[in-house]
Amino acid sequence: MKCASAKLQDIAAITRIHAACFGAKAWPAEDFEAALSAPTDSLTVIYDDDYVAGFCHIRQSDDSAEILTFGVAPVCQDMGFGAALLIAALETTLKTGVEDILLDVRQDNRPAISLYRRAGFKRVGKRKNYYKDMVAGRPVYTDAHVYKKIMDFTAQRETRRA
Ligand SMILES: CC(C)(COP(=O)(O)OP(=O)(O)OC[C@H]1O[C@@H](n2cnc3c(N)ncnc32)[C@H](O)[C@@H]1OP(=O)(O)O)[C@@H](O)C(=O)NCCC(=O)NCCS
Repeated sequence: MKCASAKLQDIAAITRIHAACFGAKAWPAEDFEAALSAPTDSLTVIYDDDYVAGFCHIRQSDDSAEILTFGVAPVCQDMGFGAALLIAALETTLKTGVEDILLDVRQDNRPAISLYRRAGFKRVGKRKNYYKDMVAGRPVYTDAHVYKKIMDFTAQRETRRA
């Protein structure tokens, strides 16, 4: 596996993986294309051989940054791609000089929360009923947990798998 900044030719794969991960909440390719040229954004990908296996999109705002979206192709999940990708994306963000990085995550997303905690993120808040899903024609609401990491290169290295 190898991480790099996304290129224009990676956008179709990123868009497909995002749709596979987030279904009805999928983003259009134009959103990821815009991230390539935005000076505030970083779009990092991880490759399995020559294929894109996952992406992480981070946006900087003054001294802070936010993970906007992050996903690994379903066939590549639970193989360490997410952990390696998160480290690479955080290292890229660290170079921009931001002091902290924030994210929202569904309170029932155990793989993502495990990954974020291991990368040094701490829970700092909750957004009640933040996610709305339609289940059998009815809305179902789920809380978001807000996590924050003070940027610290040492803590990132501890997330690497042995
Ligand atoms: C969250 C996500 C990016 C993790 O990527 P991944 O490549 O599967 O992650 P890793 O293989 O590095 O594993 C990370 C942790 O999740 C656990 N995990 C992965 N898949 C799992 C599953 N299906 N069920 C339970 N745990 C799982 C791993 O065991 C590991 O746990 P550990 O940190 O305690 O060792 C991936 O599951 C994903 O794309 N999910 C859908 C989109 C999403 O939820 N994005 C995050 C939004 S905030």
